[in-house]
Amino acid sequence: MRPSAICVVGAGHVGLVTAACLAELGHRVTCVDVDEDRVESLRSGSVPIHEPGLEALIARHTAGGALKFTTSYEEALDVVEFIFVAVNTPSTPEGAADLRFVRRAARQIGHALKNGRPIIVNKSTVPVGTAETVEHILRQEASGLGELPVVSNPEFLREGTAIEDFMKPDRVVLGCRDREAAQRVAGLYGSLEAPVLITDPETAEMIKYASNAFLATKISFINEIASVCEGVGADVNQVAQGMGLDKRIGHQFLRAGIGYGGSCLPKDVKALAHMASIYGSHPQLLNAVLQINVDQRRRVVRRLRQILGSLEGATVAVLGLAYKADTDDVRDAPAIDIIRLLDYEGASVRAHDPVANDALAEILPDVTYCADPYEAVSGCDAVIIATEWPQFVEMDLRRVKAGMRRPVIVDGRNILDPDVVRSHGFVYLGVGRPDHLQEPLVLEPQAKEA
Ligand code: UGA
Repeated sequence: MRPSAICVVGAGHVGLVTAACLAELGHRVTCVDVDEDRVESLRSGSVPIHEPGLEALIARHTAGGALKFTTSYEEALDVVEFIFVAVNTPSTPEGAADLRFVRRAARQIGHALKNGRPIIVNKSTVPVGTAETVEHILRQEASGLGELPVVSNPEFLREGTAIEDFMKPDRVVLGCRDREAAQRVAGLYGSLEAPVLITDPETAEMIKYASNAFLATKISFINEIASVCEGVGADVNQVAQGMGLDKRIGHQFLRAGIGYGGSCLPKDVKALAHMASIYGSHPQLLNAVLQINVDQRRRVVRRLRQILGSLEGATVAVLGLAYKADTDDVRDAPAIDIIRLLDYEGASVRAHDPVANDALAEILPDVTYCADPYEAVSGCDAVIIATEWPQFVEMDLRRVKAGMRRPVIVDGRNILDPDVVRSHGFVYLGVGRPDHLQEPLVLEPQAKEA
């Protein structure tokens, strides 16, 4: 594969992973960001986000010269064949995707681009029709360069496994009416052996939203089933296991709990629902998915109130602040809403996360942050597990109980074994799990006799 000269606009999570992985694939990459401090720290080898393997990858390719960081668009676009746009698209108060940064990036590209005819590749998650908006801005800003092709190339990276997701994708989606441009972008990924789907830009943009909305729907679906399980005395983990054995359903994204968080699923479901309503359809399923997800966070506090009588004056430990394990990202983390509700009901909160204490302290400074779970549970009336960190599965329950005022564990991620927890004298509340569990017995099919 021929190495290409690539500029990546945006040194956030998606931009950094894309830049480092494209360098790993053998290309020459310059990553440009307007944030001077961020670029300075990247140049000195410090990576401002927590993503396993990323720091080492960036260090290797900056040392080898394949990866550079700059704040200058002119420098980044000097000689370039592809420009990847990977800026963030936060939610507006109405739930739409805010395109401010995408528009600014397009304007800056148009302004700084002096020659050549690079292909613009959009990685940011943008509403359907944005590829056309970007083309329009470039036409205005870089009128001397003629029509520049814009390819929509949605990312399907999960935080915590983003490098593996990039290097071993389930699919590469490319949306462009200029087939040759799409095929040239496909060539960048040539060595990855993934199926490539080439569509028009609108379809590619829609694939991204529909995929995230479907994942969120699976989670809200199993959470709704969990509530029914609580009523009828069934165990949702085993229900999910039984459902997942059907290949048409699959096991993934059927973990019941306090719901999805993060910078992607909540924002994208809201943006798709917003898009649906402004185009005249009634997104009833998406609205239900959103509502169930909000309810899951409230239910935890409601159930705790039922157990403790009142939360006024209680002290509650919240273990896990990141929106999921293996990240320090607290954007739209369920723990935030739960802590705010506990505070509203008069409880004090002691919190611990293996890596996200500092990030949450910026949002909720009045919480007592602790260095480990044992310090967090000290003197508490209850513990809520809000992130599925393996460290919490391995806690010494005897030590946890010895430190607590009342032995109550609310397992918001269903990661503990209820029988083991109860055998230590705790009151255990999971999500969609009955009081008395029986282990499922999985019998493998017997080999047929010859
Ligand atoms: C998600 C998608 O999985 C990626 O494919 C997509 O590229 C990315 O958004 C994006 O749009 O950039 P991510 O937000 O990193 O990735 O995290 P997920 O692993 O999808 O988890 C999202 C949330 O759902 C977490 O809070 C997690 O705890 C929760 N979850 C996940 C459940 O509650 N149950 C499950 O069964 C699975």
